[in-house]
Amino acid sequence: MSNLMWGLILLVFSAFFLNLDAFELRKGQKTERISGSAGDVLEDDPVGRLKVFVYELPSKYNKKILQKDPRCLNHMFAAEIYMHRFLLSSPVRTLNPEEADWFYTPVYTTCDLTPNGLPLPFKSPRMMRSAIQLISSNWPYWNRTEGADHFFIVPHDFGACFHYQEEKAIERGILPLLQRATLVQTFGQRNHVCLKEGSITVPPYAPPQKMQSHLIPPSIPRSIFVYFRGLFYDVGNDPEGGYYARGARAAVWENFKDNPLFDISTEHPTTYYEDMQRAVFCLCPLGWAPWSPRLVEAVIFGCIPVIIADDIVLPFADAIPWEDIGVYVDEKDVPNLDTILTSIPTEVILRKQRLLANPSMKQAMLFPHPAQPGDAFHQILNGLARKLPHDKSVYLRKGEKVLNWTAGPLADLKPW
Ligand SMILES: *[C@@H]1O[C@H](CO)[C@@H](O)[C@H](O)[C@H]1NC(C)=O
Ligand SMILES: *[C@@H]1O[C@H](CO)[C@@H](O)[C@H](O)[C@H]1NC(C)=O
Repeated sequence: MSNLMWGLILLVFSAFFLNLDAFELRKGQKTERISGSAGDVLEDDPVGRLKVFVYELPSKYNKKILQKDPRCLNHMFAAEIYMHRFLLSSPVRTLNPEEADWFYTPVYTTCDLTPNGLPLPFKSPRMMRSAIQLISSNWPYWNRTEGADHFFIVPHDFGACFHYQEEKAIERGILPLLQRATLVQTFGQRNHVCLKEGSITVPPYAPPQKMQSHLIPPSIPRSIFVYFRGLFYDVGNDPEGGYYARGARAAVWENFKDNPLFDISTEHPTTYYEDMQRAVFCLCPLGWAPWSPRLVEAVIFGCIPVIIADDIVLPFADAIPWEDIGVYVDEKDVPNLDTILTSIPTEVILRKQRLLANPSMKQAMLFPHPAQPGDAFHQILNGLARKLPHDKSVYLRKGEKVLNWTAGPLADLKPW
């Protein structure tokens, strides 16, 4: 059959369910309850289920850094700042460390931006080490467990490996002093040295007010089949190609640039958020890291995320049934993306849209200020609460040491 013929068939097919979709939406935004793999846990209230002690650190570890560069407040790694603010006034906070289940050290390790706004994690290991030195000498709680009842927010690409290049990150591994702690991080990939078991994966920070201000009436039909805006190649950093996004984005472009079902381009229009609300599927391919803020945007705007990032671990994956909500496509299958998406039955698409329309789903992706029940802050706390009680084995015997304070690259050991 000719390509044109196929194109026509696909168009007719998509027109069929796009109409259905619009019809469904016009009847009022239908939603369906999210039942996560651990039960309907998105609506859990963490208050009363855990107590968190917030270490008080000199402001050079947090507030002073932010004062120097307020851009950090809008960065996709800003969760480290907002989580600190949130905890300070949260009812789960305890001022009595003796009754704490978890200890939190507020360090803003990603707030070090280039003039272009790219975060550089070069100082992060020294800063983190310095903070741990401080808490371990001023309070008795670190030494008790060497961090096993402590959590850290490390939202940077490749989390506590503290490097933006994957090879370097793998070579470095997780900072030795954080190897017993619970890491709350954006990065998630299975079987990767930078994601250890028991970590809590969170969405990247996306500005909630800005997204809200672009909402369009839900009655407007989703007339775009597949939508994507962003890079396909990163010629500057990957001149020969194939390395950036492991070639997956390049494959999207090469296979579908002329396909009428695909609205894809590198140009970021001012109507980007509105366009996502008019699309059925939004591509969320890996870039340099497996994730991008597109996932959050897709959920907020009710566009079914098409996740192209093998082995990705999505935010709050123990609470959110991502397989039911999104579509996973293997990187090697990108050339068949059109067939894969057009062969999803209409009722499956409608169910995904109903799940996406669930307010608790959207709430879990956001770090609003002030915080709201069920938001990403609360999901982090829920994740920490689900890890309680701590196993007795986390408590070390008197004088027992597990961590090696002199391990890691020499430059990381310099005082900060
Ligand atoms: C914890 O252990 C370190 C090194 O092992 C020691 O220098 C420090 O004084 C200890 N902290 C407390 C509060 O005893
Ligand atoms: C700690 O790490 C350093 C550097 O890798 C190594 O030389 C040293 O032997 C290690 N110490 C212990 C007790 O394992």
